[in-house]
Amino acid sequence: MSEFRAAVIGTGGIARTHAGYYAKTDRVELVAGCDINEERLNAYCDEHGIDQRFSDHETMLAEVQPDIVSVCTWNPTHMEMAIAAIESGAKAVISEKPMGDELGGPMDAVALAQERGCHFVVHHQTRFTPGYNATREMVADGAIGRPVSIHWRSGGGLLNIGSHLIDNYRWIIGDPDWTDVLGWIQRDTNRFERGSYAEEKTHALIRYGGDEMILSIDLEDGVKYKQFRLSGPDGVINFDREQAVLVNSEGAHEPRSSAQPSFLEELLTWIDGGPVHRNVASQALITQQIMMAIYESARTRSMIVPPYEKRESPLEEMILAGELPFEGEPYDCRRPDALEYALKQRGMA
Ligand SMILES: NC(=O)c1ccc[n+]([C@@H]2O[C@H](COP(=O)([O-])OP(=O)(O)OC[C@H]3O[C@@H](n4cnc5c(N)ncnc54)[C@H](O)[C@@H]3O)[C@@H](O)[C@H]2O)c1
Repeated sequence: MSEFRAAVIGTGGIARTHAGYYAKTDRVELVAGCDINEERLNAYCDEHGIDQRFSDHETMLAEVQPDIVSVCTWNPTHMEMAIAAIESGAKAVISEKPMGDELGGPMDAVALAQERGCHFVVHHQTRFTPGYNATREMVADGAIGRPVSIHWRSGGGLLNIGSHLIDNYRWIIGDPDWTDVLGWIQRDTNRFERGSYAEEKTHALIRYGGDEMILSIDLEDGVKYKQFRLSGPDGVINFDREQAVLVNSEGAHEPRSSAQPSFLEELLTWIDGGPVHRNVASQALITQQIMMAIYESARTRSMIVPPYEKRESPLEEMILAGELPFEGEPYDCRRPDALEYALKQRGMA
């Protein structure tokens, strides 16, 4: 018998990555799955040899009492599931990103996990990539001096991809507090992304004391950048997920990469009493605050400074107030059945 029994809520695409983590250690056995879609539930459970199958997460948590719970459902449901898992007595919860599409649920879930001693992490797994970690080490060693600056461009939506990029940048520069945010968004169709309201374009300036991040998402249709550049007064680091190259007055240096443990290994070490996991949910909560501050800045046309604790989504507020007029029918740019679910939840179906 394994030491820990794990269960997955939401047996779609990313749940396969979680199953892959569990399959690589004999300390954890994946014993239960839950999904509202029977076909996806059975396909996943057949693939991973899981007998205990549920269509309702509350029933699963009560009957199985898992030690570790993976929350792999659509965006707006993550914190409801995480809170239920923490309340059921789970030792650890791995929630998918983004934590949600507002701030109230994430704040409540982090507070509850701290109160109950639950090891609550968010799956911003790119904190484990060798290239980002080599960059982080060079920044910490003062290789390019301070303050540092990045213009990080990508596609795929603020909550979806911005949550990774903001989290990655905070990791690379040492998880600092943010000091102010300026945000701009555009939304002129009725767009959703895996169940959440989504904008079409985002541009933001996020500052951390002197360090800064300029974030541009979806400014060019379909373009996904894979190479990034971090600048400082004494040089630049050109990096991707695999490696990082320092360029300074001496020229271009040898590429570096920094091997890391696995996401799950670090979680088990934390449960064993070791250091807190790098993806502890209180870090993801800061990313969630920054994303909501971007929306709030766009809503109020002003600079947002912490503390930022507004529970509701400023994006939703703008849409419902008619401040972002759109044309056309609602659509989900990733999962059509997530749209149906989102509209039902909002009483709009
Ligand atoms: N960390 C990463 O790099 C990464 C990569 C991909 C997706 N994700 C995140 O994972 C989440 C899921 O994305 P996906 O691409 O796997 O979606 P998906 O549609 O493939 O899977 C989600 C599953 O959740 C199920 N579900 C929805 N509501 C449910 C409920 N109330 N109870 C039980 N099951 C429910 C759906 O039926 C579906 O099978 C998203 O929030 C996404 O942002 C993260």
